[in-house]
Amino acid sequence: MRVTMIGAGYVGLVSGACLADFGHHVTCIDRDARRIAALKRGVIPIFEPGLSELVGNNVRQGRLEFDVELRAVAEAEAIFIAVGTPSRRGDGHADLTFVYEAVREIAPLLAPGTVVITKSTVPVGTGDEIERILREHRPSLAVQVVSNPEFLREGAAIRDFKHPDRIVVGTEDVQARAVLAEIYRPLYLNAAPILYVGRRTAELIKYASNAFLATKITFINEMADLCERVGADVQEVARGMGLDNRIGAKFLHAGPGFGGSCFPKDATALLKTAHDHGAQLRIVETVTAVNEQRKRAMARKVAAALEGSVRGTTIAVLGLTFKPNTDDTRDSPAVPLITALTDMGARVRCYDPAGMEQAKLQLPNVTYCDSAYSAAEDADAVVIATEWEQFRALDLKQLRRIMAQPVIVDLRNIYRSEEMRRAKFRYVGVGSAEMAAGKRGRDLRTRRPPIVHDRLESIDRSVEPVT
Ligand SMILES: NC(=O)c1ccc[n+]([C@@H]2O[C@H](COP(=O)([O-])OP(=O)(O)OC[C@H]3O[C@@H](n4cnc5c(N)ncnc54)[C@H](O)[C@@H]3O)[C@@H](O)[C@H]2O)c1
Repeated sequence: MRVTMIGAGYVGLVSGACLADFGHHVTCIDRDARRIAALKRGVIPIFEPGLSELVGNNVRQGRLEFDVELRAVAEAEAIFIAVGTPSRRGDGHADLTFVYEAVREIAPLLAPGTVVITKSTVPVGTGDEIERILREHRPSLAVQVVSNPEFLREGAAIRDFKHPDRIVVGTEDVQARAVLAEIYRPLYLNAAPILYVGRRTAELIKYASNAFLATKITFINEMADLCERVGADVQEVARGMGLDNRIGAKFLHAGPGFGGSCFPKDATALLKTAHDHGAQLRIVETVTAVNEQRKRAMARKVAAALEGSVRGTTIAVLGLTFKPNTDDTRDSPAVPLITALTDMGARVRCYDPAGMEQAKLQLPNVTYCDSAYSAAEDADAVVIATEWEQFRALDLKQLRRIMAQPVIVDLRNIYRSEEMRRAKFRYVGVGSAEMAAGKRGRDLRTRRPPIVHDRLESIDRSVEPVT
């Protein structure tokens, strides 16, 4: 099938390359001429494991092309819209400018019978508006507008696209359903369930899913705060909860708060939709408020580890992206953390394996280093903000030697406190009295009953998906 993808960002490029790999002929179109020129030279503009090989193979096989022009639209049987839908400045509604511009641009070129498919995350009713715009430009054109939200996660995007838990297709039209079934046929053969629903329902499934996952993260983060006060260990609480099949272990890792290009903006946009329709989503409201407060609270945690103040100190922050294996720093918790640390008078040196170029635009006044160790040089504390694989096995002896003070604040709980104690570090993690800084933590530790390690201990959290 001839498929056109409008937008060659994280979602458009991964989806386009995967659809080409399924055997379709795909043209990815992006208005960013530099991005397209890079792709034509074989340079992948985003960091996503496996993407370079996938794109290269499919370009060589003649199934994947890139263009700034819209000429492929006229020949396409299916056109995906995968442009950005950021938060609108000022009010938090999803900004649909890019979506509607793309629709107006393709409208004059569409062939009769084409299916226009929204892959971007868009609020309920956007499909209706796209249909209205198309009718306005081409009153007599037969075209179907379908919602097909994308659930891939950056860092595991190809696997997620090729092995989805479900494919959601929002349209009542039988022919459009047949086109989507043909596009996803290889996945259907792999028994990935296709859920055919109404268009508005499909649009809402995406927001409801993201808001629910954000709620799960926020729930365990609040449990972590309680654990620190009562002498419990949030990692064991999460394991104990997660083994219940009704709950599940994923998205139960306490940390610095959820971030990234989707959860914060989608939760806020969902709230705006609810308000517009006179419905209250009090849980989602609370989740966004709690998460917002948590980001700066992490800076206070760092200060607590340094006897209450970071003024005049040097802090090394390891990790700037919102999670490992991406270069995306959009709404990363590391950004408000660093801003708060500098507001509080600290000098920040940081390192990230992939996210430093993006971070420089958001955080111009910090020092960017070329390794974790160079960031830690003369630092009064190292803060682990993102659980990149390479931060999981730092050479603690070397760190101790080069740091001004042996203090580690591990906001992702990737180390064990015993290991850090043995290496003579003051170690502060998230969600354990043992890890909580200060006297309160020490007092609680003495009252804590011994932990019986059973088979739960063998569950390795490093292999669980990250948020
Ligand atoms: N990033 C994720 O992990 C993820 C996951 C699921 C869903 N989504 C959703 O997918 C959508 C896209 O997200 P993304 O992260 O890929 O965005 P992105 O910013 O990485 O990419 C969007 C691309 O669209 C291009 N573009 C904008 N207007 C255009 C136009 N009129 N014609 C051609 N190109 C145009 C931009 O130049 C940009 O390259 C968003 O709605 C997002 O919420 C993202």
